[in-house]
Amino acid sequence: MAFLSSLCALLAVCTTVTANNARSADLIRLLGPQGVNLVRLDSLATPRPFLKDSSEFGVQEVLSKGDGKRTYDFRAEWFQQPLDHFDDNSSHVWHQRFWVNSKYYKPGTNAPVIVIDGGETSGEDRLPFLDTGIAAILARATGGIGVVLEHRYYGESIPVSNFSTDSLRWLNNAQSAADSANFMRNVKFDGIRENITAPGTPWIYYGGSYAGARAAHMRILYPDIVYGAIASSAVTHATLQAWEYMTVIRDAADPKCSSRIVSSIASIDAILERGYFKKQLKALFGLAGLEHDEDFVSLLESPLGYWQAKCWDPEFGSTKFDDFCGTLSRPFSRVMAAADIESLPFEDEKRMVTFEDGFAVDVAVVNYAQWIKKNVVSRCKSTVEDCFGTFDEEKYHVTDLKQDWRLWLFQVCTEWGYFTTPPPDQKEPSLISRLINLGYESKICKQAFPPGKYFKVPGLPNITAVNELGDFAIAADRLAFIDGDVDPWRPYTPHSDYAEDRDDTILRPFKLIPGGVHHYDEWGYKNILEEPEEIRKVHAEMIHFVREWLKDWKPPKKHKKKHD
Ligand SMILES: *[C@@H]1O[C@H](CO)[C@@H](O)[C@H](O)[C@H]1NC(C)=O
Ligand SMILES: *[C@@H]1O[C@H](CO)[C@@H](O)[C@H](O)[C@H]1NC(C)=O
Ligand SMILES: *[C@@H]1O[C@H](CO)[C@@H](O)[C@H](O)[C@H]1NC(C)=O
Ligand SMILES: *[C@@H]1O[C@H](CO)[C@@H](O)[C@H](O)[C@H]1NC(C)=O
Repeated sequence: MAFLSSLCALLAVCTTVTANNARSADLIRLLGPQGVNLVRLDSLATPRPFLKDSSEFGVQEVLSKGDGKRTYDFRAEWFQQPLDHFDDNSSHVWHQRFWVNSKYYKPGTNAPVIVIDGGETSGEDRLPFLDTGIAAILARATGGIGVVLEHRYYGESIPVSNFSTDSLRWLNNAQSAADSANFMRNVKFDGIRENITAPGTPWIYYGGSYAGARAAHMRILYPDIVYGAIASSAVTHATLQAWEYMTVIRDAADPKCSSRIVSSIASIDAILERGYFKKQLKALFGLAGLEHDEDFVSLLESPLGYWQAKCWDPEFGSTKFDDFCGTLSRPFSRVMAAADIESLPFEDEKRMVTFEDGFAVDVAVVNYAQWIKKNVVSRCKSTVEDCFGTFDEEKYHVTDLKQDWRLWLFQVCTEWGYFTTPPPDQKEPSLISRLINLGYESKICKQAFPPGKYFKVPGLPNITAVNELGDFAIAADRLAFIDGDVDPWRPYTPHSDYAEDRDDTILRPFKLIPGGVHHYDEWGYKNILEEPEEIRKVHAEMIHFVREWLKDWKPPKKHKKKHD
């Protein structure tokens, strides 16, 4: 590895990737203001080398060397974009980063370009999909070219000099869709002589999660240049209160674990409501100094975020959710027999752990507390109020370019929403505290984005901007939807229980991966025969429908007179 790293530095052609960054937007989505705190703690612990320097286009970065990081042999290229696609007077331009895999390209065969939308993270985090994942799989199957296109404002595709409210006003769905369209119509790839722009070449647009919704939107907004699109875990339904997210986890997790979490949270809520042992309870978690109860309970959501971090490929997946479940059923002392713990009901006498003053809780709560203390609170190098409090506005006012947590948060606050709340039905079992509500989750929007001179973040996001593009019913020929049946985002995709059922056809593929979590089809092995059965199956189906789509491809007629 050391040899490889120095070789990379020398040749300046490799990129090393960690999975860390993709998680920052996930944390914010899930934990709202507390997520921002956790991302900030993470970045203090592992500062990301910051290399933005637009004078050095073409010089490839090598990210911090370290253990377990893979190196990818792709060189970044840059494409010039206007900052504002809808104002002809604005001359401000910036450069959008992309990477190309032309290993499988067969020129002169009407081969497609498979473009992966980088979505709400550094494009570097998507390189595994260009190397052996879905872009490589489809490019190999079609003789096509794979591309990862970084999203404006993320990674190094940054058009502004700070992330103030005003500077972020060009970070929206319409501008970033126009970036992709402009790219497809005009890009030239280094070392490829043919004109591969759209619509003269078939472009297949792929995205997962937020980028999955964008893939679907691209097919609707730009049907003349997006020949086909694959929308994986595509959250085409934006919503303010994303309470269903946790119900998917509640129902899909090991029932015992799920019920222990539900009972622990209910018991914690009850203690907080009574107030009497509140101090002792918080102290158990190492959070005695945390003033607001909402901040305390929102921290307890952090292990739940690891459900989404599961991946069938162990190199990229996290096992922390299952570890957390294991922790919950650990006996507290030798006196407590493991078998008893497993079988006795919550708050059975034999499961209770008693502290001074007569404060007593179920052993699962004690274990929960230890997990939080060890995995979350221990990272705090200051007071817990400083690390985990969310009521001090000041700390969200920093706007320099290192504050990349501001990016997805801005998109949440303006157009996307998805504030995680408990089920509206009070009787429904909840994995998260009933103290969490829309007001608490969304207050960060006002705290982080005070009104600018040119732009004001709305009181609540205008989710119509997303939903008017088709919502659950979004559909078109050569637009595929791929989802996972235990993906916590499934309730916001066309595979939602709220959506009309559809047929799965070649022209409009509609596939649900059994046991699949978040965009499971995006990862792939070099040899797809070594993949788990369900993944291999969906990849074979994807190859099949893309090949079928391409059979219908006809290049647009040249010299066609326009009649509009
Ligand atoms: C662009 O400039 C023209 C001429 O200066 C002006 O009339 C027009 O209002 C400007 N448009 C915008 C969107 O600022
Ligand atoms: C952010 O950048 C803009 C444009 O360069 C500048 O006018 C503004 O003063 C900056 N704001 C902050 C808070 O640095
Ligand atoms: C590439 O082809 C498109 C038509 O698909 C054409 O409009 C464009 O001018 C061509 N670009 C170059 C550089 O030849
Ligand atoms: C919300 O977005 C829609 C669609 O873009 C737009 O028509 C509407 O005016 C917006 N509403 C507000 C309150 O800004």
